[in-house]
Amino acid sequence: MGALNLNELVAKVDDLPSLPLVVTQVLRLTDDPEATPEDLNKVITTDQNLTARVLRLANSAYYGFARRIGTVTEAVILLGFNTIRNLVMAASVSHILEREVTGYELARGELWHHSLTAAMAARLLAREIRYRAHEQAFIAGLLHDIGKVVLSLYVSGEFQEIIRRVQEENIPFMAAEAEVLGFHHAQVGGLVAEKWNLPRELVEAVSFHHHPGQAQVDPRLTTITHAADAVSLMLGMGVGVDGLLYPLDAGCLEASGLQPSHLEKVMAAVGDSLGDSEAMWG
Ligand SMILES: [Fe+2]
Ligand SMILES: [Fe+2]
Repeated sequence: MGALNLNELVAKVDDLPSLPLVVTQVLRLTDDPEATPEDLNKVITTDQNLTARVLRLANSAYYGFARRIGTVTEAVILLGFNTIRNLVMAASVSHILEREVTGYELARGELWHHSLTAAMAARLLAREIRYRAHEQAFIAGLLHDIGKVVLSLYVSGEFQEIIRRVQEENIPFMAAEAEVLGFHHAQVGGLVAEKWNLPRELVEAVSFHHHPGQAQVDPRLTTITHAADAVSLMLGMGVGVDGLLYPLDAGCLEASGLQPSHLEKVMAAVGDSLGDSEAMWG
């Protein structure tokens, strides 16, 4: 048993930065059919840093607009509410995900690349199987490993023991986490998502991304997140120690209509766009 139980860790989660108010407001506005691009402009431009990132992205090669987008209002009109919501979400959590996750031997930035790659893969997988909430899938992919950030801050003492079990007993990393700590990063991530008041299906996708069979609210979203995590690891993004022995749940993939050919297609597409996205996110 670890030095810290899950309840004590929940208390620690309170020390994590909350989701900035501007993000909460953007999430609400992009869900509101009455909201206008000017409303979004008003909220986003209260944060200069965020405004700069949104404009940088909107002008990146990734979106392929020939002319320069100079204002947030224009960006909202050209890219649409859903894309703006993703950009704002990604820009806001990047500083949390970019920390060095020592406990997991993930160098600074590696978890961020792993997460962004999973986010892109999740959106494409959603399209492949005609799952309607593509953008929700993007956010689930982006946030799925947020629990690692929390654990890495408190897990260091137990970490050597986790590694030893992974190597000597040949068990998946998350199973070793559970044995040594009594809980794992996906559970912790679910608590963070709850703290951020994210929708139930997102909390579920984060909590069960390694056990999609446990999802009840929206099993397809959780399964897409699970597959996207695997795609990101297969592309070599953020392998660290968590990349060893990734057990894919074939039954859930099949139930969601995800074929191996979908995974291969998405892997190729994401691999091609990685160069662009890195230029885009810096
Ligand atoms: Fe994970
Ligand atoms: Fe992951």
